[in-house]
Amino acid sequence: MEKTERLEKIKEEVLNLRESPLYAERIKNKVHPVIGEGDYDADILFVGEAPGRNEAKTGRPFCGAAGKILDELLANAGIPRDHIYITNIVKDRPPFNRDPLPEEIAVYGPFLDRQIDIIQPKVIATLGRYAMQYIMKKFNKESEIVPIGQAHGKAYEAQASYGPITIVSLYHPAVAVYNVHTKETLKEDFNRLSKYYERDRK
Ligand code: URA
Repeated sequence: MEKTERLEKIKEEVLNLRESPLYAERIKNKVHPVIGEGDYDADILFVGEAPGRNEAKTGRPFCGAAGKILDELLANAGIPRDHIYITNIVKDRPPFNRDPLPEEIAVYGPFLDRQIDIIQPKVIATLGRYAMQYIMKKFNKESEIVPIGQAHGKAYEAQASYGPITIVSLYHPAVAVYNVHTKETLKEDFNRLSKYYERDRK
């Protein structure tokens, strides 16, 4: 099956995921799951946490306040948004933007796993501690997990089913909405990420 078909199949499955603890919320609020967006051949895949209000309304990842910051950080680092792929661990919005629950991560995680296997990125950039923890565990780096305050900007070499990958841990852009200091740190960390973008363009 082609990449497009395989990714479309994921979308179909998530749309029909009645067993999800967040499915009833989706129907009640007349909102959408957010599957992911971007280049199916991207070298860099960004993983966020879960859709917020704007994302659930539109079905697009990072299109609200945190998305505005993400766009700024990408532009500043010289990484075009349409050259990357962006998704989340949890594909439906948790009520009141609360943190995702372990059972929600367990339900949606396998879809992210499949997206990674299909897109086969060389770099996985995690946004926030939930994405960092999920990806580090998935790639057998659990023993190297440290608090996000220490992990941000760090790169970890790991092995995916399709080859070597680099995991880059970043703060979640939402923390920079009201915190100028974190925004500067995020800018520096994203600029480090641009080196992987350039490497993979060669
Ligand atoms: N926060 C996330 O983690 N993901 C989004 O898509 C939007 C905000």
